[in-house]
Amino acid sequence: MAQPRIGQKVIVDVPSTTANIGPGFDCLGAALDLTNKFTIRRIEGNGERFELIIEGTEGSHLRGGPENLFYRAAQRVWKAAGLEPVGLEARVNLAVPPARGLGSSATAIVAGLVGANALMGSPLAKEKLLELAIDIEGHPDNVVPSLLGGLCMTAKAASERWRVVRCEWDSSIKAVVAIPSIRLSTSEARRVMPKSIPHGDAVLNLGAMTLLLQGLRTGNGDLIADGMHDRLHEPYRWRLIKGGLDVKKAALDAGALGCAISGAGPSILALCKESQGRKVSQAMISSWESIGISSRAPLLNLQTLGSQWKEAANE
Ligand code: HSE
Repeated sequence: MAQPRIGQKVIVDVPSTTANIGPGFDCLGAALDLTNKFTIRRIEGNGERFELIIEGTEGSHLRGGPENLFYRAAQRVWKAAGLEPVGLEARVNLAVPPARGLGSSATAIVAGLVGANALMGSPLAKEKLLELAIDIEGHPDNVVPSLLGGLCMTAKAASERWRVVRCEWDSSIKAVVAIPSIRLSTSEARRVMPKSIPHGDAVLNLGAMTLLLQGLRTGNGDLIADGMHDRLHEPYRWRLIKGGLDVKKAALDAGALGCAISGAGPSILALCKESQGRKVSQAMISSWESIGISSRAPLLNLQTLGSQWKEAANE
C-alpha cells in the first residue's frame, strides 16, 4: 500500500448526532444534517506531526499535536493496517459546536478514521472503522450514526460483537435542537450517574424504547410522546442543565411530541411535525433567554448518508 504524497488531500464531511433520544442511553442515536467538514492533507513529517486549523466561531480551545482525538483515531488506522504513520494537517469547518451533546468528538474520531483510511487507499473496511470508532469513544450511540447516517441502534450482541440495526424514521418527524451558549462535558455528565439503577427503571426504559422506535417508524406522534421517556440518565442530569426542564416544558407546550437531553447535554432535542417546528424552536429559545442564556434552535432533518469523503485537488 503506497503512502500518500506530500500535499495529497481528502475532504471528509461528518454529520452531528443526537444520542439517547430519551430511553436509548448509550445505544440509540441519529445523524442530523448539521455537518463538520474536514480537509485533511498529508504534510512533511512522521507520525508525531498533526496541525489543526479551526474555521468557525467555536473550538478555539482545540489543539493539534499527537494527542488530538482526530489524530489518535488516524493512528489507529495505521496500526490496524500495518502502515507507517504520516504527518497530517486537518482544516475543520466547524459547524457542530463542541461540548453541547451533538457528537462533536464523534465527528473528530470518525473524520480521523475515514480520512486516514482514504488517504492510504482504503485498506480497512467500513466494519473495521466502526469497531475502531466504538473502541475509541467507549460507547456507540454517536460514532455509529456519524459514520453510517440515519437512526442507529447499536447493541453488544450475545456473540460479543457489536451489531447495528438501522431503524426507520418517518420523514414527517423533524428534530429541533436547542443549542445553548453554555457547555457541559460528557465526562461530567457521566460522573453524576449512579453505578446501578433499580429494576423498575430498566423495565420502564425497555418499554419506552419500543414505543419510541415504533413511533419514529410510523410517524405516530402519540407513540413518540409516550416513548420519549427515560429513567436511566435524565433524572440525574437535568440539574446540570440550567433552565433545562423549563426549556423542555416550553417545547412540549408549543406542540413538540417529545423532548429529551441531546446526548449528554446541555443541548435539548425536541421531536415534532414540521408544521410545529418554528413555534417549538422559538419557545425553547425564549425559555432560555428568560434566564439570560442565549441559544439557537435549528430545525434539522435526519442525515441518512453518514460520513462522505472525496479526493481534493493536490497542492
Ligand atoms: N450516551 C452518551 C451519554 C452520549 O449520554 O453519556 C454522549 O456522548
